[in-house]
Amino acid sequence: MALPLILPICLILLFLALYMLYQRLRFKLPPGPRPWPIVGNLYDIKPVRFRCFAEWAQAYGPVISVWFGSRLNVIVSNSELAKEVLKENDQQLADRHRSRSAAKFSRDGQDLIWADYGPHYVKVRKVCTLELFTPKRLESLRPIREDEVTAMVESIFKDCANPDNDGKSLLVKKYLGAVAFNNITRLAFGKRFVNSEGVMDEQGLEFKAIVANGLKLGASLAMAEHIPWLRWMFPLEEEAFAKHGARRDRLTRAIMEEHTQARQKSGGAKQHFVDALLTLQDKYDLSEDTIIGLLWDMITAGMDTTAISVEWAMAELVKNPRVQHKAQEELDRVIGFERVLTEANFSNLPYLQCVAKEALRLHPPTPLMLPHRANANVKIGGYDIPKGSNVHVNVWAVARDPTMWKNPLEFRPERFLEEDVDMKGHDFRLLPFGAGRRVCPGAQLGINLVTSMLGHLLHHFVWTPPEGIKPEEIDMSENPGLVTYMRTPLQAMATPRLPSHLYKRVAVDM
Ligand code: HEM
Repeated sequence: MALPLILPICLILLFLALYMLYQRLRFKLPPGPRPWPIVGNLYDIKPVRFRCFAEWAQAYGPVISVWFGSRLNVIVSNSELAKEVLKENDQQLADRHRSRSAAKFSRDGQDLIWADYGPHYVKVRKVCTLELFTPKRLESLRPIREDEVTAMVESIFKDCANPDNDGKSLLVKKYLGAVAFNNITRLAFGKRFVNSEGVMDEQGLEFKAIVANGLKLGASLAMAEHIPWLRWMFPLEEEAFAKHGARRDRLTRAIMEEHTQARQKSGGAKQHFVDALLTLQDKYDLSEDTIIGLLWDMITAGMDTTAISVEWAMAELVKNPRVQHKAQEELDRVIGFERVLTEANFSNLPYLQCVAKEALRLHPPTPLMLPHRANANVKIGGYDIPKGSNVHVNVWAVARDPTMWKNPLEFRPERFLEEDVDMKGHDFRLLPFGAGRRVCPGAQLGINLVTSMLGHLLHHFVWTPPEGIKPEEIDMSENPGLVTYMRTPLQAMATPRLPSHLYKRVAVDM
C-alpha cells in the first residue's frame, strides 16, 4: 500500500483506540466482553442477539457494555434496570439511533419511529395519541379487523376442504401474514389491495415490491454501519435510496390523491389514517414528508409484529394441547356453536386473553425493543452511560427472569389469572410494547388483533402437529433480526370444529 495511505489509516486507528480508552477511563462503564480495537465486539455477537446478550448478562451482570465498532451499546436485562431506563431516565434516553438506511428512509427522522425526542417528536406523538389511536377510532376500525380475521378462517377452511391437501399440514404464517397485510394497508392507506379471489391489484404489487426493496436496502452495509471511518469503502447507494424514496412517495401520493378526490365527492372523511392525517394536516402543521413517513411507520411497525406474535402463540398451543383445550372450552361456553367471536366478547374470555399475554411474554416480537439513544450523560445501575450511547432493554430476558417468574420457561397462561400483570408499560416485568415516552402507540390495536386471530383460530379449528411429528419436535428457535420470526415457520394440521355455515368471511367495505 502506498505510504501516503498508510499514515492516515494508522492515525485514524490510533485515534479510535485512544478514544475507546478515553471513554473507558473517563467513565465508569458497565462491564462486558473485552472489545477488540476497531471492531469492538462485533465479531463476538452471535446472530440471535438477544440470546447472546442474555448469556453475557449471566457472566457480567444485568447491565453490560457491548461495542458495535466504536459505538457503545448498553443492554439491561432485569426489570429494576428496565425501570431506570424507561421511567427514571426516560426523557434522557428517548432519542433514536438512526442507521444510515433508517436516516434515508425517514428523511432524517421526519417520521415518528426514527425521530429524536424533541418538538417534532412531541407533535407527531400527540397526533398518534389524540387522533390516530384513540379508543373511538380503534372501535370504528373494528369491522375491518373482523372482516380480515373471518377471511382468514374462510381461507383455512377452504384449504382444509380441498382434497389435494388431504393429510397435508398448513403453513400457518401464510394465513396470518395475509390478515396482517390487509389489516394494516386498510387501516393506514384505506385500501384492500387483494380482491376476494385473493388476487392482488397493481398498486398492491407495487406496494409489496417497495416493502421488499426497503428490506433489501436496509440489510446492506451492516459492517460499515458501525465503523464510520470504513464508510468511504462502502459508499451508500445514494441512487438506489433516492429511487426507492421516489417510488414510495409516488405510490403514497397517488393513494392520497384518490382519497382527496373521494372526500371532495362524498363530503366526508373516512376513519383510516390517510384521511385522518390529510384532514389534520393544517391543525398540526404536518409536512407531506411527515404524513408519508408516518403512514409507512405503521406498515413497518404494525404488520409483521402481529403476525409473528400469533405464529409463536400457535406453536405453543400445538405443543401444549392442555392449554389449547382449555381455551376452546372457554370459547364453547361463552360463544357456543351458533355464532362467531367478536371483539366485544373479549371481556368474557379471560383465559384467551391470558394465552395472548403468555405468548407475548415468552416471545416478544421485538425482543430488544427498538434502540434508544442517550441525549445526556446518565447513570444506570450505578454505571455511567455517556451521551450518544445506545441503550437496549432485553425485554425477552426480563420476561424470563427466574427471580421474577415462577417456572419462567413454561407456557402457562394461568399465571396471569393468579396475578394480573399489565403488559402495556406499567409493570416492568413484562414489556413486549416497551414503556415510557416511546411505548408502542399501537399496543391496544396489536393486542386486539392478536387476541381476535387466536380466538378465531381456536374456536374454528383443532390444531395438531403435522403427521409423524411429535409436539416436542416443533422447532422453537428464532431467526436473527430486529423482529423475531420463528426459524422454522410453523406447519400444523387444522381440523374444523364448528358448523360449516360459520366459516364465511364477514366482508365490509370501508
Ligand atoms: C403485537 C404487536 C406489537 C408489538 C409487540 C409492538 C412492540 C413495539 C415496541 C417494543 C416498540 C418500541 C418501543 C420503544 O422503542 O421503546 C414499538 C414501537 C412502535 N410501534 Fe409497535 N408493536 C406492535 C404493534 C404495533 C401496531 C399494530 C402499530 C401500528 C399500527 C405499531 C406502531 C408502532 C410505532 C409507530 C412505534 C414507534 C413509537 C416511537 O418511536 O415513539 N405497533 N412497538
